[in-house]
Amino acid sequence: MLDSSDFPPFLLKLLRAARHLVVFTGAGMSAESGVPTFRDAQTGLWAQYDPAELATPEAFRQHPKRVWDWYAWRRELVARARPNPGHRAVAEMERYVPQVTVVTQNVDGLHQDAGSSRVIELHGNLRRIVCSRCRREVPREQWAPAGPEGVPRCPHCGGLLRPDVVWFGESLPGDAWRAAQQAMRTADGVLVVGTSGLVYPAAGLPLEAKAQGAWTVEVNPTPSALSAEMDYVLRGPAGEVLPALVRAAWGDAAGS
Ligand code: OAD
Repeated sequence: MLDSSDFPPFLLKLLRAARHLVVFTGAGMSAESGVPTFRDAQTGLWAQYDPAELATPEAFRQHPKRVWDWYAWRRELVARARPNPGHRAVAEMERYVPQVTVVTQNVDGLHQDAGSSRVIELHGNLRRIVCSRCRREVPREQWAPAGPEGVPRCPHCGGLLRPDVVWFGESLPGDAWRAAQQAMRTADGVLVVGTSGLVYPAAGLPLEAKAQGAWTVEVNPTPSALSAEMDYVLRGPAGEVLPALVRAAWGDAAGS
């Protein structure tokens, strides 16, 4: 088990002094909850599936059932997943830091399940289903039966239903994007957890914070595209490093 001697004193001091902490997360955050990442060799979803065939508006137009079924599978997988000690450690930081903002690329809702109160979802949420035509959210009990395409329809306009996630080639939700940029502008520090840092514009956010004077720390078992830009790097899984970091920074107060 990691303890405070595994973390440099200056880092613990920065954490204790932070008034606004941003935790910027990617798929690695939920890996220990059993939700597969995208780009890890062997286990990543994009090692088995072609994103162009599943995560683009064109794919949905051409093969709506294939895309719907893949997301239905992921929705079930996520419905069974529980927050891991990393998510819980992030939620616990709210006890010690006046403002904690989670900016996540994840669509699984596990930060909210763990108790984080301010979560900005840059790529949407898999649990929400919206109409691809009128964009209204449609709860499960209102889904209209599938037509010949094999995908449930909108009860309001008859459009095909789809998950409320951002596909390649689509814009990020404007409100979330603006809120994330605002958080980066006022952050004292950013923890960058479990992301390859390859997907823009999201991956540019920690660098914006850094440009505004925030310190940056990466938590990831392997180097990412952002590692070289970080002030400090903690190599290890989020579910181990983050709880240990909370204990080390806030000592006996943590976990009580
Ligand atoms: P990736 O799959 O690209 O990267 C996952 C990162 O998590 C890698 O850097 C791993 O080293 C790291 N990792 C693996 N296990 C970990 C653990 N236990 N603790 C901490 N880190 C761990 O996932 P993202 O960076 O989130 O977009 O991918 C960004 C976007 O690409 C996703 O939001 C998704 C995808 O296509 C959309 O769906 C729009």
